[in-house]
Amino acid sequence: MTTLRIRRPDDFHVHLRQGEILAGVLPATALTFGRALVMPNTLPPILTAADAVSYRQAICVEIAKLGADHFHPLMTIKLVSSTTPQTILAARAAGVVAGKLYPEGVTTNSEDGVRDLEALYPVFEQMQACEMVLCLHGESPGVFCMDREQHFALSVLPFLAGCFPKLRIVLEHVTTAAALRTVESLHDKVAATVTPHHLLLTLDDVVGDKLQPHHFCKPIAKTPQDRDALIAAAVSGNPKFFLGTDSAPHPRDQKECASGCAGVFCAPVAMEVLAEVFEQQEALPKLEALTSEFGARFYGLPLNDSYVQLVREPYAVPQYIEVGDTQLAPFRAATVLNWLCQIETS
Ligand code: NCD
Ligand code: ZN
Repeated sequence: MTTLRIRRPDDFHVHLRQGEILAGVLPATALTFGRALVMPNTLPPILTAADAVSYRQAICVEIAKLGADHFHPLMTIKLVSSTTPQTILAARAAGVVAGKLYPEGVTTNSEDGVRDLEALYPVFEQMQACEMVLCLHGESPGVFCMDREQHFALSVLPFLAGCFPKLRIVLEHVTTAAALRTVESLHDKVAATVTPHHLLLTLDDVVGDKLQPHHFCKPIAKTPQDRDALIAAAVSGNPKFFLGTDSAPHPRDQKECASGCAGVFCAPVAMEVLAEVFEQQEALPKLEALTSEFGARFYGLPLNDSYVQLVREPYAVPQYIEVGDTQLAPFRAATVLNWLCQIETS
């Protein structure tokens, strides 16, 4: 039996939702990961220090029920047109580590997203001054869906990096070779998160044969060349690239319907899928850096001091995970994976 022991990973991009869904999805993240950066696009959104504090409390109640004391949620606020430098200062004082910018209308719950980037310059200035990370949903609204990320990465990203050279910027869930090249070419305060599912999927897995709603997410999976470039970046050992699962659960009836929501619920299989990809690339020794070192270092956090075991044994992923009255389909539902992530108990 092959076993790979690695430092406990962190997830620098997760959607935990609220209420019943939060309680149902938290185990998949909190039992495996040491920390997770919790996205603020809830309904209502997390906009202020007070919102972040009460959201953190709700998450901590569920952590306590799970007995997952090792797990620490890292909180974010959503940057909107009403965000001010004062909002940033108050949020930072309350322990918020990042502000997330969604351009208007590009993804789930982004109707209140940003239209006028320039109006937020004083906010970015304040984030730079108080060392809050800027997380970007890097897609340009109004552009053809396959080109949205490339457009954003070639225009907005270098511009922001140039205007705010000390601001740490993360291009979230990178999906294109063009965006990877841009991130690589910019200074070392610019990084990108990589999701497990974008290392496997291309557009063919979404619409190439039958429509597969559980593979539909933003940014949409791209070409085989883009996917191969993502894999190469993930195994490259370049500290600019680290894990952010973008695990984004939606109830079954909101995925399997005429107007389905974007998001892949990948937390239950994140480490297992990564182990498969890294094994195929003969790069297993490099997995730990992607999942457990580069992100923590970028965010200025100590490395976790506990470990997990990736064991090479069959893991039958359920078709659905029952959450209260609803069901959630995990990524790779009803397939058998070759790896299982186990927690070290001693
Ligand atoms: C995310 C969600 O459902 O909240 N959806 C997605 O397709 N990734 C939002 C996001 O990160 O874009
Ligand atoms: Zn996301």
